[in-house]
Amino acid sequence: MNSFISKKSSQTMSHCTQRWTLKRFLFVCATGFYFQLAHAALVDCNLVDQSGWMDAPGGCIVKPLAEQIGAGHGDAFTSGTSGYLIKRDPARAIRRGRQLFNRKTSKAEGQGPRVNHTSSGDIVANRALGAGLADSCSSCHGRPRGSAGFGGAVATRPDSRDAPHLFGLGLVEQLADEMTGKLRAIKERALVKAQQKGRCITRKLRVKGVSFGKIKACPDGTVDTSQVVGVAGDLRIRPFFSQGGTISMREFIVGAFNAEMGMQAWDPVLCAVTEPGATAAVVSPAGFKYDPAKDTFERPPVCDAVSDADGDGVVAEIDPAIIDYIEFYLLNYFKPGLYEQTSYTRLGLRLMERIGCTSCHKRNMTIDSDRRVADVETRYRPEKAIFNGLFAQVSTLFSVVDDGNKYPLLVPDRKPFTVKNFFSDLKRHDLGPAFHERDYDGTRVTHFVTEPLWGVGSTAPYGHDGRSINLDQVIRRHGGEAETSRLAYQNLPGWRRGAIIAFLQTLILFPPDDTASNLNPGNPGTADPQSPSEHGSISLPPLFQIPEEGAE
Ligand code: HEC
Ligand code: HEC
Repeated sequence: MNSFISKKSSQTMSHCTQRWTLKRFLFVCATGFYFQLAHAALVDCNLVDQSGWMDAPGGCIVKPLAEQIGAGHGDAFTSGTSGYLIKRDPARAIRRGRQLFNRKTSKAEGQGPRVNHTSSGDIVANRALGAGLADSCSSCHGRPRGSAGFGGAVATRPDSRDAPHLFGLGLVEQLADEMTGKLRAIKERALVKAQQKGRCITRKLRVKGVSFGKIKACPDGTVDTSQVVGVAGDLRIRPFFSQGGTISMREFIVGAFNAEMGMQAWDPVLCAVTEPGATAAVVSPAGFKYDPAKDTFERPPVCDAVSDADGDGVVAEIDPAIIDYIEFYLLNYFKPGLYEQTSYTRLGLRLMERIGCTSCHKRNMTIDSDRRVADVETRYRPEKAIFNGLFAQVSTLFSVVDDGNKYPLLVPDRKPFTVKNFFSDLKRHDLGPAFHERDYDGTRVTHFVTEPLWGVGSTAPYGHDGRSINLDQVIRRHGGEAETSRLAYQNLPGWRRGAIIAFLQTLILFPPDDTASNLNPGNPGTADPQSPSEHGSISLPPLFQIPEEGAE
């Protein structure tokens, strides 16, 4: 079974695995690639290939679920664990996370029921009643194909919520976390100053070029947050969920497995930091620091995995290693691409700056200390492209640290990284009644996080609810804090509005399996682009470090 897949992949690994850096890899292994490609919602080869004929590479996941889990959560010193692979074979860990994200799950693996056996209850208390039931993350996040993109809608609210794309998600998490740290540092410094001066003092809350209003600190240690805007009084920026509800990708992954797929994850990281009376901070294998002294996190649906000690009958269906791999995959997930720029699209960008769009949709933001191991820059390069006009340049962001283990640590450089063409301030705004959201109980949500515009050229329909059919309509729907900006847009002559739309349409998503890259440049001008070696792809297996782990 899968002889083609395993034979080819092990060949390539023997060519390439001694090389620790991308540059050296490209030098040594640029010929004789093996491409392990895949499609949205992937099946497990072992479950569907009964007669051994499925030899189209990438048509299915090579490893059965048990082998994907391997030796479990573990640490950087226990071989075969997620803790080990993330630190010593990060490209493989990303790849495995991708396979798990796309994996079709079965009832035997624990998928379902949808919330409970009758699918009934109070939807305001339990949003999951309006979510799932899907059998894969990519059922809803699978456009363009093979990507962690956009897609499905859910009825967790009366007017529904649209599934956003997850391109660049790790950058969003890092920006929000760093901004939170800086906002809180301003507060701490203000408190110290107030003590020194013996009177209340007011400080501006401005971080990474974004203003969150003001804070007043007093010598008795109290803080007045009534002038804080765009973030809750705890100064924690929650970038996930349209209304700004969740801090970290990991909480979202555990939550989505539960709410969208009916699969309960046990997670030692989130269980530890949500344990009543917990005080110790825990760092996830992907490097997110959870500090229960500063924030409250979402407790996983099951924390008594082995024994069902609390007797609620809920047992773990998702191993923590799965959460580790998906978190690491999303941390490193490539950002959206940029399609062809012309004088007309450049005019569109200038107009957006002039009429105030970029006061909220902030174009660039800089991360101080980037935890990712690689960056993918995807641009319009027709001369190098095969299917879609795009070419992706992958560069690594890690250094090799030999700690005496059989495989060295590949440690993120943690350098600053400027996130370009992002177009968000990660702030919550009130865009007026057309964007307000009704809830089932009659209440309304009025504030939503500025949707980053990267990728927006690929993701119609628009708005958190998907109620705007195209870009022009969603811009015209802006009111409230964006009223002046919207009026300025409406008053532009049609050809100038067209320039803005034309620019937005260059902010695109792409199918990774069909986009040529420096890892698999394909064969531009090919007569038959069907095979992966001809059409090119963003292919990780050539970067794998540990050959005995085999194919993914
Ligand atoms: C049934 C459809 C569906 C499935 C399946 C699904 N999601 Fe989602 N996802 C959504 C929707 C809808 C949202 C937007 C939520 C909101 O704003 O209310 C979302 C949002 C997210 C976000 C937050 C993104 C942001 O920018 O706010 C993450 C992360 C995420 N999903 C990850 C996952 C993962 C991981 C899985 C698989 C375990 C998964 N999703 C499965 C529909 C789905
Ligand atoms: C006051 C802040 C603010 C200003 C000014 C503003 N926006 Fe927005 N924009 C938002 C927020 C918040 C959202 C998310 C709305 C939602 O879905 O709930 C959004 C959503 C969008 C979307 C939809 C994104 C998607 O994926 O659904 C587009 C497109 C957009 N804005 C373009 C513009 C343009 C063009 C301008 C200038 C004419 C502009 N915006 C001005 C805050 C702003």
